[in-house]
Amino acid sequence: MHSILITGGAGFIGTHLVKRMVKKYPDYKIVNLDLLTYAGNLENLRDIENAPNYTFEKGDIRDADFLQGLFVKYDFDSVIHLAAESHVDRSISNPMAFIETNIVGTVTLLNAARSHWKDLIGKKFYHISTDEVYGSLGDEGFFTEATPYDPRSPYSASKASSDMLVRAYHHTFEMPIIVSNCSNNYGPYQFPEKLIPLMIHNIKLGKTLPVYGDGLYTRDWLWVEDHAAAIDLIYHEGKIGETYNIGGNNERKNIELVHTLCDIMDELMGKAIGTSRQLITFVKDRPGHDRRYAIDASKLKHELDWEPLVDPETGLRKTAEWYLENQNWLDAVTSGAYQRYYAEHYE
Ligand code: NAD
Ligand code: DAU
Repeated sequence: MHSILITGGAGFIGTHLVKRMVKKYPDYKIVNLDLLTYAGNLENLRDIENAPNYTFEKGDIRDADFLQGLFVKYDFDSVIHLAAESHVDRSISNPMAFIETNIVGTVTLLNAARSHWKDLIGKKFYHISTDEVYGSLGDEGFFTEATPYDPRSPYSASKASSDMLVRAYHHTFEMPIIVSNCSNNYGPYQFPEKLIPLMIHNIKLGKTLPVYGDGLYTRDWLWVEDHAAAIDLIYHEGKIGETYNIGGNNERKNIELVHTLCDIMDELMGKAIGTSRQLITFVKDRPGHDRRYAIDASKLKHELDWEPLVDPETGLRKTAEWYLENQNWLDAVTSGAYQRYYAEHYE
């Protein structure tokens, strides 16, 4: 049985990927390894937790002995590596957590695969990364796979470092790797620290909507299930040693996006359009804030025939509806275990 280790499968993107892979490939054994930090939640995976081709393992990608045992236990054919500290603001308040998980954790995982995989035929180490490694764009242009790395936050520097280590293991040890760099994801199960779920959550509660700086920063937004579909495709058809950019072709200035969310939420909550916009407050900027990200995903389009399927209007509405219908999930992730973990690590 084809056996895949997915790391970070209880996080936002991992949830969507694990569900997709478990449902679509009943002949694959999918093992989800996750430490269940504040960002990981097994509730997300309730509908597949008893699937015969799925197993959850709680553990830390920084724990070499644990990983060695896991590779022996499951004899993985491949790894899809998503586990990470993922929030830029947290990387500014606590850079070390990002160095330890994103860099040391990735190398520990590479070492585990390398020492277990005596024969590399049919093996694959697929590393999931971000467009933030490329730095910041001006008003024009796009990031391509050839854009030089210029990371500017501790988060993006840690991801850039892990990307380079993954590629170094390919060149030095012939590790069969693939890397993809994706733009901002949105959709259900995203922790309400990131822009879109934070705004929806605050609109629900009638709290202020903190827009950093002048609000004219630009991101390229991608529906999370489109990202999961791209990962599935690249996993199966991508070329070893290659990098693929993934993007939504959907650039928005933050303030425009927040206006759109306010109006959708007003409509869904039966309020007069314009009500929630009054909650917007411009606040102190994020230090080192990257001005604009925009992805050129034409390589993925031309070589593997991928493109996003969900248009932003539909995706944002579906996201708002999901957060309105899933108050229990929001309560769970913003209290209890999350609070304790947060207090231990960040306060
Ligand atoms: P997330 O923060 O929602 O989830 C990360 C998961 O990793 C959590 O379940 C957490 O418990 C787990 N984890 C953290 N440290 C761990 C450790 N030491 N050992 C094992 N598990 C650990 O993140 P996400 O938004 O789903 O992002 C997933 C990956 O995709 C990350 O590598 C991120 O850099 C990348 N990425 C994210 C986006 C985005 O917009 N969210 C875009 C491009 C790339
Ligand atoms: O580009 C991909 C990256 O997108 C991923 O690699 C990261 O894991 C993911 O967190 C995301 O990073 P960003 O920093 O772009 O996402 P965030 O949701 O934190 O912020 C999006 C934009 O909104 C950014 O310009 C900062 C701004 N912002 C964010 C928050 C949380 C605000 O103006 N106010 C806020 O309260």
